[in-house]
Amino acid sequence: MPTDLQLKKLKSAAQAASRRAYAPYSKFHVGAAVLANSGKIYAGCNVENASYGLTNCAERTAIFSAIAAGEKSIACVVVYTPTKTATAPCGACRQVINEFGPSAQIISCCAGREQIAVSLEALLPGAFGPADLA
Ligand code: THU
Repeated sequence: MPTDLQLKKLKSAAQAASRRAYAPYSKFHVGAAVLANSGKIYAGCNVENASYGLTNCAERTAIFSAIAAGEKSIACVVVYTPTKTATAPCGACRQVINEFGPSAQIISCCAGREQIAVSLEALLPGAFGPADLA
């Protein structure tokens, strides 16, 4: 679990990232912030494409940014949407989170009061992962 200070920073990074979302098609702006096990925070937003299927979710943008910076594992993912209710990561993002943080904490927050805090195991029970290929 992140500390209170880390959680505050993660939420603020996720909210700031949501303002950079490239979402001209869905108009659904999402920001994410990842706490790597090094203690560093990486942010990302959703990046859509005119070829819709190429869209990258905010969570994966943030995770790929962390991995590209040299991180090996992640402890927590915070998702922010400027909506009344909180949004859980999509199935593809759950699978990508599992790759680098099978025990990660997932926290979804929004413009409203709702906040969802759940483990990745709860969101993706019985996950297929690296150990299955060993
Ligand atoms: N999206 C995310 O970025 N994260 C999620 O967890 C759910 C969906 C994005 C993808 C697309 O740009 C838009 O939200 C609508 O699906």
